[in-house]
Amino acid sequence: MTKNPFKFGEIVDGDSFCNRTKEIARLKQAFTDSQNVVLISPRRWGKSSLVNESISRYKGKLLVSHTDCFGITSPEQFLEVYLKSVLKTESKLATVAKTVKEFLKNIAPYISFSVGESEEIKIGLSLPKGKFDDTEILTLPQRMAETKDIPFVVCVDEFQKIQEWPEGGKFLEKLRAVWQKHQNVSYCLYGSKRHLMSGIFNDSSKPFFRFGDTLFLEKISTNHWVKFIVDQFLGSGKKITEEVAILIVEGVRAHSYYVQYLCRLCWGNSEKVVTESIVRESFNQLLADMLSLFRAQTESLTRYQVNYLIAFISGERKMSSNRVIHHYQLGSPGNIKRIEKSLQDSEIMDFFTGVPELTEPYFEPLFRKHFIGNS
Ligand SMILES: Nc1ncnc2c1ncn2[C@@H]1O[C@H](COP(=O)(O)OP(=O)(O)OP(=O)(O)O)[C@@H](O)[C@H]1O
Ligand SMILES: [Mg+2]
Repeated sequence: MTKNPFKFGEIVDGDSFCNRTKEIARLKQAFTDSQNVVLISPRRWGKSSLVNESISRYKGKLLVSHTDCFGITSPEQFLEVYLKSVLKTESKLATVAKTVKEFLKNIAPYISFSVGESEEIKIGLSLPKGKFDDTEILTLPQRMAETKDIPFVVCVDEFQKIQEWPEGGKFLEKLRAVWQKHQNVSYCLYGSKRHLMSGIFNDSSKPFFRFGDTLFLEKISTNHWVKFIVDQFLGSGKKITEEVAILIVEGVRAHSYYVQYLCRLCWGNSEKVVTESIVRESFNQLLADMLSLFRAQTESLTRYQVNYLIAFISGERKMSSNRVIHHYQLGSPGNIKRIEKSLQDSEIMDFFTGVPELTEPYFEPLFRKHFIGNS
């Protein structure tokens, strides 16, 4: 049986990866030059896949570690996870032992390592609170890169979380102070909260001001998607015209995750040819799949938030004007900022670019159906 070539919810690479050639070139250059990078985009537009794809073309020529701050709640926990990910770049137990002995003299007694069943190296850590020198841990990638004469890429995902931790601000200062001395490491910091990320890197009073080459990832353009979609269908024995592929991309507003999602449904729903009506049927299926998520997102909306969304989806943009406030019952002009902040915090809307947008492409059709009463 032929495999459905479309995938979502996981990192995509190789043939499943669409375009982004300019971004890949920029990241590759940064990684080999040990230039720091800041990568910012809303959720599921393709940060992880892009970083992975840029690195995968350099297998063996770069040392790479990944640390995800999602779920981490303190600097101590970060340091543990971070150290493990850096040590895991060593492929053999003997080299882990050597690295620990050489570069982590003070904390070596608190590290244990063994080989698991499938040959993977297991690292155990129990660092005594407040008694170890975090500089030793933070300097490790630089020491390893120097010794091996291979550039190190340290990836830290959801970096904006750090400032929420107790002592997070102080920890950011520490990170910056240590990291800026490293000549052979590229720190690739990324995150999905655009306003928070840009607050960290574009604010001159913050330690990470202008830390690296900052890349605001954009959506993949429709023509790149269309080519990708047509090729992926052809390669798996099915046909789709460019016009129908455009319908798919526009239906989900070129949002990476949902393009793959909708393509996957269309692929499953078609025999040999994807028609316009198959796209429509598949889109309805997507909406049905998203309904419980939509319900969860909207069940605790206040009356003001609902009214704001009705106004927005009805095409209004001058929210603070007397007419709109009165017609849609939005309270007072001062209320608008509060509503917008809450819609941004709950990730229903995004105001970052100055052109307000709904975050998820399923939201508008479902909102119309369930709150406005026309679809
Ligand atoms: N370049 C691409 N080509 C094709 N599909 C892509 C591409 N980038 C992302 N996608 C699709 O979008 C999904 C999400 O991508 P990815 O996990 O890389 O995004 P992310 O920005 O890291 O997401 P998150 O915010 O959840 O960490 C992938 O599973 C894939 O379906
Ligand atoms: Mg990711």
